Amino acid sequence: MSITKVSDEEIKKQYEYMEKVKELSSKGLKYCINTMGCKLNEADSEKISGMLEEMGYEKCDSFEEANLVVFNTCSIRENAEEKVFGKLGELKNLKEKNNMIICFAGCMSQEPHVIEKIQKSYPHVDIIFGTHNIYKFPEMLFEKISKQPKRVVDVWNIDGEIYEGLPVKRESKTQASIIIMNGCNNFCSYCIVPYVRGRERSRAPEDIIFEAQELAKDGCKEILLLGQNVNSYKPREDYNFANLLADLDKVDGIDIIRFTSPHPKDFKDDVIDVIANSKKISKVIHLPLQSGSSRVLKLMNRGYTKEQYLDLVDRIRKKIPNVYFTTDIIVGFPGETEEDFEDTLDVVRKVDFEQVFMFIYSLRHGTRAENMEGHLSEEVKSERFNRLKTLSDKMTEEGMNKYVGTIQHVLVEGESKTNKDVLTARTDSNKIVNFEGDKSLIGKEIEVKIISQHVWYLKGEVIDKDF
Ligand code: SAH
Ligand code: SF4
Ligand code: F3S
Repeated sequence: MSITKVSDEEIKKQYEYMEKVKELSSKGLKYCINTMGCKLNEADSEKISGMLEEMGYEKCDSFEEANLVVFNTCSIRENAEEKVFGKLGELKNLKEKNNMIICFAGCMSQEPHVIEKIQKSYPHVDIIFGTHNIYKFPEMLFEKISKQPKRVVDVWNIDGEIYEGLPVKRESKTQASIIIMNGCNNFCSYCIVPYVRGRERSRAPEDIIFEAQELAKDGCKEILLLGQNVNSYKPREDYNFANLLADLDKVDGIDIIRFTSPHPKDFKDDVIDVIANSKKISKVIHLPLQSGSSRVLKLMNRGYTKEQYLDLVDRIRKKIPNVYFTTDIIVGFPGETEEDFEDTLDVVRKVDFEQVFMFIYSLRHGTRAENMEGHLSEEVKSERFNRLKTLSDKMTEEGMNKYVGTIQHVLVEGESKTNKDVLTARTDSNKIVNFEGDKSLIGKEIEVKIISQHVWYLKGEVIDKDF
């Protein structure tokens, strides 16, 4: 498989557009990005922010202050659409006041009916672009500013190429997300992602390793590798996800490597071995289950059975004894019976997940599940959801209790978002630990003793090594 990249000339052209927008714009313009959906969208937003800052825009947190607003949207569930259109509607008045440019981007703009709706009913949206051509944003903004056309729309239904070398505005200095692949070939029957993100494309390993090295030089300690299917990463015949993990493990300065999401059907022994042999790769593995029933898994087109999933968990636990699992589960898939749902609860109990991310099945137009029989009522879906939640809450609480009294080795990330007097860090298992301590500890690895648990976080005390 060869990697097709956006040419250097094209990237240079976009830098020229950034320069031109900067020249044309008045000073002190502010932008606000509204990011929905998954970490991939968050990473894309960091790129959009990077380009905007290069063009002289400054970030702000509210629409009221903003001269430019970007909606980076998500299509994974139905109700998100109503919310976005609600917010878009609210901006009608502000737009006049702030002379605002409104941009609509992300996965929803890859859905034709959404574009139609904007074209028809939301004339105040200025720029619409999709997930394949984010790198062309400077050109689109230039078009809008210089020619004042009614609207710039550029959405591609072919897969965009990988692009390198455009600015990124990182939200954190110590942690960074790195997209390693984009798109998905799996077509799980409920899921819209393959339609809005296109087919799998992997970035060149050299580019990823270079990015990690540069980040490390800049003080970054932790990287999160992102993709819809990270273990399908395959930039060429003789290189795969296990090779990438092994190479990133050697990057000096990077102490923690996380990744999300892997697909259970593609989780091979080579990846398990690399994780087992690494001190840096996180021992928290997100392993999306979706359903515990083999019958439903088949309808979902997941490519594994209940037994194969449990066997994978066992194989991983044997080689990595201190591993923790988190998962995603969809409740109420069409045709799911009480017995099928019991199978899901059974797997949840058996695996003893650290955390379960739960979703009520949401019908997505154009997916195969749309025409399946046995769509369930909202009552049945929410009743099952609540039962799963009760079980998972109980398990989370029991899991948190186990930490109390233990000593944890953590990387200090910074001040807590809610209380500036408290520092925050995360355990190996990705649990938040808050504790009092000197700001000079930020960016350091230290030991803390856990003194209590508060459902979503642990409270700790710094262990003074000089004692
Ligand atoms: N590639 C990842 C998932 C990306 S989407 C994977 O395969 O695990 C994130 C999660 O959203 C999925 O794991 C699934 O649990 C949930 N999801 C996707 N489509 C959904 C739908 N139609 N209704 C409800 N939840 C959905
Ligand atoms: Fe969606 Fe399945 Fe692809 Fe995940 S693997 S993005 S759930 S189609
Ligand atoms: Fe949503 Fe697109 Fe991510 S649909 S979950 S933002 S890939």
